[in-house]
Formats: sequence, C-alpha cells, structure tokens
Amino acid sequence: MSLDLLTTIEQLRARVAEARAVGRTIGLVPTMGALHAGHASLVEAAKRECGLRVATIFVNPTQFGPGEDFSRYPRTLEKDLELLARHGADCVFVPAAEQIYPPGDESLVDVGSVARPLEGTHRPRHFQGVATVVLKLFLLAQPDVAFFGRKDYQQTLVVRHLIRDFRLPIELRVCPTIREPDGLALSSRNRYLSTDERQRAVAVSRSLGLATRLVREGATDSATIEQAMRDELSAAELAIEYVALADPETLAPVPRVDRPIVALVAVRLGRTRLIDNEPIAPPAG
Ligand code: PAJ
Repeated sequence: MSLDLLTTIEQLRARVAEARAVGRTIGLVPTMGALHAGHASLVEAAKRECGLRVATIFVNPTQFGPGEDFSRYPRTLEKDLELLARHGADCVFVPAAEQIYPPGDESLVDVGSVARPLEGTHRPRHFQGVATVVLKLFLLAQPDVAFFGRKDYQQTLVVRHLIRDFRLPIELRVCPTIREPDGLALSSRNRYLSTDERQRAVAVSRSLGLATRLVREGATDSATIEQAMRDELSAAELAIEYVALADPETLAPVPRVDRPIVALVAVRLGRTRLIDNEPIAPPAG
C-alpha cells in the first residue's frame, strides 16, 4: 500500500514504461485534488480493472474562467495522498504547471458542439481547458483505461469525443456519482458551503429526484417537468443557471421524454457553483 509521488514527466514515463514491460494494464484517474469519496470510487474502479493505477492531481488553470475559484480552489495534498494510498493508487503525478504548460505553450484543443450548451454557455472556455489538459495527461500517461465520474456529465461527453476524434487507444469508464446520505453529490466545492447553504444545496439532487419521479409517473412534457424542478430549486433560494432535459449523447434539448434522457442542473449559492445530473428513462411499455 505504498504510493509513489511523481512530480516530473520523466518519472511518470519511467513508471508507466516499467509497468508496461511486465504486461500491466494502465488505469488513469485525473483529478484536481481536494479528494473525497467520489474520487476514491474512481481509484477503486481502476484497482478492479488495472495493474497500475495512476492518479493525477493538477489544478488546471486553463479550465478556470476569469473571476472563478482557481486561486482559492482547495489544496489538501497530504490528505489526498493518504486517500489515494488507502484506495489502491500505485502512483500519483503532481506536476508543477510548467510540466504541463511549458514556457511559450499556446496549443489548445478546439472542442466541438457537445461542449457548447449548458456548461459551455456559462463557462465559455472551460471545456477547451479540460480537453487540453486531459489530452496532455493521456499522452503522458498513455493509459489503457481512463476513469471519469458521471457527476460531470458533459465533461464525460467531451472526453469521449476527444478519444474518438484523436483516435486515442483508451477506454473510457464513466463511474456513478457518489452522494452524501441526503443526496448531495460529493464535490470538492461543497467545502465552500456555509451550514445554511449546505442545507439548501440538497434541493439540487431533490429536483433531479422529482424529475425522475414525474417521469416514472408518466409525465412526458419537458417544459412542465423543468418548471417543477425550477420551483423546487427556487423554493430553496438557489440561483438557477440552467435546468435541462437533454439528449444523453448530444445534450440537445428534448421536448418530450419518450426515450432515455439526462436531466442536468447548475445553480449558484452565494459564491459557490454546483452541478448535478441524473439519467432518466420513461417507464417501459
Ligand atoms: P475533479 O473535479 O477533481 O474531478 C475528478 C474526477 O472525479 C472527475 O472525473 C469527476 O467527474 C469525478 N468526480 C467528482 N465528484 C464525483 C462524485 N461525487 N462521484 C463520482 N465521481 C466524481 O473533473 C475534474 O477534476 C477536472 O476537470 C479534470 C478532469 C481532472 C481535468 O482537469
């Protein structure tokens, strides 16, 4: 149960080459640190499937917009290392910014249509930064399998397209969202919430539960379902950025829930921004 801390590209490449030479499958779990049980579940999934489990911790500047929380993003390295060791990571790559973005660096991944709606509208360059850093991490670690959380639903689609479009020989595993007992999706940003905000935040998952229930009871009109979700969020005084029932592959709005969809929510509570989603299928028959 020992965890190697790697800080340079050379160290990472050597560790991966060594594992490959003895026929190990490489699993990659990219993170920004401030780790919680959601991240741990990805490491556990990698442990079940891969011989070498590589985590990365890098608070990626290019995916934060001006005025976002890059400078105050929680940094808890000691605890992160302990969590990674406990859940079966073999090594963790914690690069300095220059390792990822060498001086003069100006190449960015131009992401496609799936990055445009929802998060893309509210965080215009966010997915360009995500896709760029994920591509760099993929090229450095050369994993066979990469593990991402469904919690960031649109991000999983962006990564899926990245793998497809650049013909990367990587399998994407999308793991279920880990939640607090009351339903709040675990997030590194939850620690920004005051006690009062933490209580109100549960309305996010409640609104998704409401949508699931309405669909199960036969509701099909998206506008009606979205309005019920908005009412739930507004009652908790959450500032809604978007509420959407969308196609699970393209994120195009769906007017009627007559096939599987995904419901997605983004809200603000004070200075904190929270997102969550839930795949929903209409009742059979
Ligand atoms: P971060 O927010 O640290 O999340 C790292 C991974 O953990 C992502 O795949 C995310 O979806 C997953 N995750 C977060 N909360 C989760 C939860 N409650 N249940 C299950 N999985 C969860 O996402 C990023 O970092 C960055 O954008 C990154 C991909 C590392 C690129 O910088």
